[in-house]
Amino acid sequence: MGSRMRDGNERDIRRLKEIYSRVVDALADVVRDLAVSEDELHIAGRFFNRLGSAGAFPSLLDLSLAMASIEGRLMHSGTRPNLEGPYYVTGAPERPDGVLFERSPGPTAEVCVLTGRVTEVGTGGPIQNAELDIWQADETGAYDYDGFNLRGIVRTGPDGRYRVVTVIPADYPQHQTDPIGELLGAMGAEVFRPAHIHLKVRVAGREVLTTQFFMADSPHLATDYVVGAVVPELLVERKSIERSDGRPMAAMSFDIELSLHDAAS
Ligand code: DHB
Ligand code: FE
Repeated sequence: MGSRMRDGNERDIRRLKEIYSRVVDALADVVRDLAVSEDELHIAGRFFNRLGSAGAFPSLLDLSLAMASIEGRLMHSGTRPNLEGPYYVTGAPERPDGVLFERSPGPTAEVCVLTGRVTEVGTGGPIQNAELDIWQADETGAYDYDGFNLRGIVRTGPDGRYRVVTVIPADYPQHQTDPIGELLGAMGAEVFRPAHIHLKVRVAGREVLTTQFFMADSPHLATDYVVGAVVPELLVERKSIERSDGRPMAAMSFDIELSLHDAAS
């Protein structure tokens, strides 16, 4: 954004001015309506400084505004879109064998085979060579911020099917000790997001879907602090499968329906 602002073309400058002035107007209404005092503004200012130092500003914007940002897309047919969240990174490697972990999963991890079929809305025909760019937290609820563990790209075969080997993510706990957790806690809200797996789908190089699905057995489904993200059609049940070595293993299935004629994201 820094260099964009300096070298910004007319359109960027107009866009920035429009967004900034509308945000200030909307917040000024709140300040007037609720008679927010200068003391309260200063408390907020100090809070936002701490939030920024903790690297948590993107999370605050996502948890409060991302669902509004994607609202227009929710009306399209096919698999329901969902927020990208703060932890997507580009450049994840292709995983031809479908295995998303780069090191042996920890002793408490439950390995999981995730399969599904990508089809076209309406015709139900398979979409082959669709690119699924998947990212998720590990069995402790942590994303890999520096590398690509539990991130990767898999492709569908001629029958539209894909297969991924990963671990069951834990409920997302990372805000327990940061200013986001403080804010949510102070308002009596839950500090966990229910366990989920994110994915983007690209077809012929065009991004056609960003969504996430949730572990149906998470105890935090009803209290996700990203209000509106959890919907019944994005819950996925996990089945246990027997393994000869006695280690627990799970299977999950998530089918994806795409409308290739809808505008891209
Ligand atoms: C946040 C974390 C996520 O994993 C996500 O998908 C959305 C929001 C967060 O940090 O608030
Ligand atoms: Fe997430």
